[in-house]
Amino acid sequence: MIELQHVKKSFGSLEVLKDISISIQKGEIYGIIGQSGAGKSTLLRCINGLETYQEGTITVDGVLVDTKDAKGLRNLQKDMGMIFQNFNLLERLNVYENVALPMKFWGIKTNTPEAKEKINHLLDLVGLSDKKNARPSELSGGQKQRVAIARALVLDPKILLCDEATSALDPAITREILSLLQNINETMGITILVVTHQMEVVKQICQRVSFLKDGKVLAEGKPEDLFIHPIKEVKAFLQEESEMLPETGVNIQLFFTDKSSDPVITMMARELNIDFSICWGKLEDFRSNVYGSLVINVSEKDKEAVLNYLYQENVAWEVLE
Ligand SMILES: Nc1ncnc2c1ncn2[C@@H]1O[C@H](COP(=O)(O)OP(=O)(O)OP(=O)(O)O)[C@@H](O)[C@H]1O
Ligand SMILES: [Mg+2]
Repeated sequence: MIELQHVKKSFGSLEVLKDISISIQKGEIYGIIGQSGAGKSTLLRCINGLETYQEGTITVDGVLVDTKDAKGLRNLQKDMGMIFQNFNLLERLNVYENVALPMKFWGIKTNTPEAKEKINHLLDLVGLSDKKNARPSELSGGQKQRVAIARALVLDPKILLCDEATSALDPAITREILSLLQNINETMGITILVVTHQMEVVKQICQRVSFLKDGKVLAEGKPEDLFIHPIKEVKAFLQEESEMLPETGVNIQLFFTDKSSDPVITMMARELNIDFSICWGKLEDFRSNVYGSLVINVSEKDKEAVLNYLYQENVAWEVLE
């Protein structure tokens, strides 16, 4: 488990992390999303001890991340694999050697049968067995990131930290890399922390997410809770414009979860014997669940009956002012 309590971090007079408290459970895929400059990378670098922080505590499985304790920090870092937007592969090494590199760094022999088996297994896991001898320049972006993932796993980490790991990839390749991460999480039980500015990443794989703005966590929860019914700041981040809505009558937004996918709307029209218009709606995928929202416009006289009906049917709603 990764636990941050009241963490504060400044670069000179610039306060970059302002009282951050979050806890990430073992085996979870956790996202940190926010605009450029929000402090996401800094937060990640504080967790793996590449940056110091001035106040608060960060612990990983109960062990304090303390940059003054060089030996303790090295041991913690061994448990944390890291992948980046720009892959950070060494061009003078081939794929196999790039994956083996952390072993060399740790003084682990790479020519033993166990080491060879492990590296080959990881190359197989990321689908690159046939590219073992290729140089990074001969690979596509998605393949480079696969190499970086294999390299990050070679020391059997408990945690994988991903900083904008898919930001340089196109949507289809992003989905493939995210599926690979999800598969690693499920089969190897590795906790994954992803830092991203892409909502798609969070929607596809994260179980929980924090929204970071100006060094503060403004919202935390399941992605569906954060994005379907967003607070003002998240809405601004998503750049959702307020949709055009009728100026007469009452606009009601309904929120659907996988459990309320019944045809509530048509049933309501029939049962209450009323007419209303549908203004807009959307469906979104979160991991494997579909969630949606719909805005309807009803006349003032029907408002109470409609809200009562929605309440009775357990549909979440909000009257848009
Ligand atoms: N080494 C540093 N020295 C001084 N200021 C820094 C340093 N690293 C980051 N900053 C500042 O800290 C703030 C947060 O930066 P950070 O890189 O954590 O943001 P981010 O959320 O990862 O942004 P992006 O999405 O662009 O990667 C920025 O204002 C940045 O200029
Ligand atoms: Mg960053």
